[in-house]
Amino acid sequence: MRIGTLGSGLMTAAIVPHWIAAGHDVMIGGRNAENARKLADTHGVAHGNLAEVAEHGEVLLLAVRSEGVADALDLAGASRGTLAGKVIVDCGNAVNLADYSQVRWDGRSLAEEVEFRSMGGHVVKAFNTCLHEVWRTPRSYGGRRLRVPYCGADEAKERVRDLITAVGVEGLDIGDLSQARHLEAMAIIMIRLLRAGIPPLSAFALVEAGEPL
Ligand SMILES: NC(=O)c1ccc[n+]([C@@H]2O[C@H](COP(=O)([O-])OP(=O)(O)OC[C@H]3O[C@@H](n4cnc5c(N)ncnc54)[C@H](OP(=O)(O)O)[C@@H]3O)[C@@H](O)[C@H]2O)c1
Repeated sequence: MRIGTLGSGLMTAAIVPHWIAAGHDVMIGGRNAENARKLADTHGVAHGNLAEVAEHGEVLLLAVRSEGVADALDLAGASRGTLAGKVIVDCGNAVNLADYSQVRWDGRSLAEEVEFRSMGGHVVKAFNTCLHEVWRTPRSYGGRRLRVPYCGADEAKERVRDLITAVGVEGLDIGDLSQARHLEAMAIIMIRLLRAGIPPLSAFALVEAGEPL
């Protein structure tokens, strides 16, 4: 599959090596050409500006800071229809670290805002719930493979399912894109725990699956 990355930061660096190893045709893109080139050279793949990458990818990984998303989509040519019909994997988080509130755009989650601004793209929200190091080398927790909750329209999720597995984790389909607001809120709790030095598992691994609730 042809995959492009809108962003060449930590999340891209953690996730795309798995897709390259799985044989996908990956092109790394960034606002800063030098950053994109460095990451692409590390893996021996192509790089380009955001518009070239948008052209290349059937699936695009959007991995930019939330405040840069509007710019990134503009630079990718969304208003010219470059993202129409494409699947956009949004791994972003939208948290105001001053008070850990969830940033919204007229009530929309970040994923919904991305879909709105993509002018015909289909967003799948995934990978926002764990730190980049976790995706770099996924391991099991309590004997279980890491699960990736993801959401979006059915046809878009179908295209992303194998890409999730290629990272070495298991997908957990949680529904349509309206569910992204929960994933973004959940990540805020994780970020809050991590910043307080509290392992998130200490807050979430309280019962075993199958135990009566
Ligand atoms: N890091 C994590 O552990 C983690 C975990 C889960 C989710 N996330 C989320 O994933 C997203 C990406 O995080 P990251 O850690 O990969 O970020 P990062 O390492 O800081 O990389 C940010 C990327 O965003 C681009 N960018 C920033 N402002 C931009 C703008 N105005 N226009 C266009 N591009 C812009 C940067 O481009 P340049 O190279 O040109 O500066 C860079 O490629 C964020 O929403 C973050 O909340 C991160």
